[in-house]
Amino acid sequence: MQDAFAKMLQRVGSLGSLSDLDDVIRTSSILMKNTANIRWALVYFFDRERHNFTPARGYGLPQRYVRLFENTPLHPDKVPILRSMLLKKQHLLIPDAAESDMVNPAYRKFLSDLTLLAVPMIVRNHVLGTVFVARHKSLPPFTEKGINLIKYMASNAAISVSHMRLYDETLETAINLAKRFDTILTLDEINKAISSSLSSEKILETAIQGIERIIPCTLVAIIQEEKGRFFITASHWKDGEPASVMKPGSCLSLKNSAAGNAFAKGKTCSIDALGTIQRPGRLDGILAGAGIATLLAAPLISREQAKGVLLLGDRQPGGFVRDETFVIEKIAAQISVALENARLYEDMRSLFINTVTSLANAIDAKSPWTKGHSERVMKIAADIAREMGISEENVEQIEIAGLLHDIGKIGILEALLEKPEKISDEEFPPMRLHPEKGVAILSPIEQLEDVLPAIFHHHERYDGEGYPDGLKGEDIPLQARIVAVADAFDAMVSDRPYKKGFSAKRAVKVLENGAGSQFDPFVVKCFCTGVAHKLTAEGKLLPARPGGRQSAQKRR
Ligand SMILES: [Fe+2]
Repeated sequence: MQDAFAKMLQRVGSLGSLSDLDDVIRTSSILMKNTANIRWALVYFFDRERHNFTPARGYGLPQRYVRLFENTPLHPDKVPILRSMLLKKQHLLIPDAAESDMVNPAYRKFLSDLTLLAVPMIVRNHVLGTVFVARHKSLPPFTEKGINLIKYMASNAAISVSHMRLYDETLETAINLAKRFDTILTLDEINKAISSSLSSEKILETAIQGIERIIPCTLVAIIQEEKGRFFITASHWKDGEPASVMKPGSCLSLKNSAAGNAFAKGKTCSIDALGTIQRPGRLDGILAGAGIATLLAAPLISREQAKGVLLLGDRQPGGFVRDETFVIEKIAAQISVALENARLYEDMRSLFINTVTSLANAIDAKSPWTKGHSERVMKIAADIAREMGISEENVEQIEIAGLLHDIGKIGILEALLEKPEKISDEEFPPMRLHPEKGVAILSPIEQLEDVLPAIFHHHERYDGEGYPDGLKGEDIPLQARIVAVADAFDAMVSDRPYKKGFSAKRAVKVLENGAGSQFDPFVVKCFCTGVAHKLTAEGKLLPARPGGRQSAQKRR
């Protein structure tokens, strides 16, 4: 007998090592059935939010009552003795269960020959739940020893359940923290990436890639407003081809759409079940037709004005969760600031380019005979530079150098520039000063610092016979060697009061003959391979290719 009791205690103690809730309840119930002679056991857990005992597991309950048990929580507020058990943390003995107030009338017939015992499951002085056990009335009533034994089992089961819950909660908390940490890191990465870029395209691309990393969705699109019209400026579909209206460059109507509402109200707008909306706007209708079930639209606000919308869509219905909405609002705010910075930078840059162009126009205004020379030199020099494989950033400097190479002629007497004859030997020294004067004019402009060497040395010769410093070969700055070839070519093909312009063919021949003496041979070679085929017979450049300076300015 003592052996059996010790075995039983050992089994009760082993409840704490079980890691599955069903195992704990089943093992506890079997122990109770064997030791306390119960017919069945029902376990309820106390739900603090709902303030009720929620059905958890049943053992030994007849099948026809299982659904009733599962669907019937017990409310302490409605059943005084349950409330008393919750407060006093003491067991309840209900000898005549069928007549008890706390019993659902549907159970009464079933309980008519049973005695009930309700034992609270207590862990650290908190009621975790309760165990109801039933014994047939024909058996001896529950004794104090028997009740204590069941309480002991219930306590052990409660501790085990509590450990499991704690483990699950800790695991869940750890997973959530890891997710949040990843989200914060990604947000920070997006912020750094888009804040460090002044290119709108790069900002949008980085933002979309970041969003796709942290929020599962089918569609990410950025819509921007321009003079009352809305354009997709960037978009990405996770699977398949996007609806054509969502492709970058598309102009679309936002009327009666989630994106339109977000833009008009300046607040995030979401739709959880797009398919159920009776009369969606055109955009939402197209997206619903493409299988999108959920939408989230966050306005892009800059200087208190909506400038666009960040739109997310997903094929899964049910909407984006609160954390995702929060993240998207943060990213939308970052995009707005970065786009505004990029716009301000582009405005400043445009002002700079226009100022440089105005300076070049000032040279042309002084001498009608050289009208357009600066711009043509700019274009030819840029084409040579690209043919040489020079980076686009440096090509831009060469363009500016080409445009401003003769700016120093502003300081030369107009009479000399306008002279109908070729300049005499006596008149040449003042004219030779124009590179130096050009540098003097432009040197106060910090942004032009890098192009000054090209302006100063564009009349050097490869053989060292040029001016102002008589530099030789590769001692002459590369930009200056390029501008020199472009300058000489355009001067040769242009009409002057004292001569008719050469044909392109003849001017190219002169360049080739001068390669190695007057000109850098590699620059001349690149002129012949990269520029010559784009010239008219008179030596004028054919319209610029896509991606050139002119088309770039138009895009801006
Ligand atoms: Fe010059």
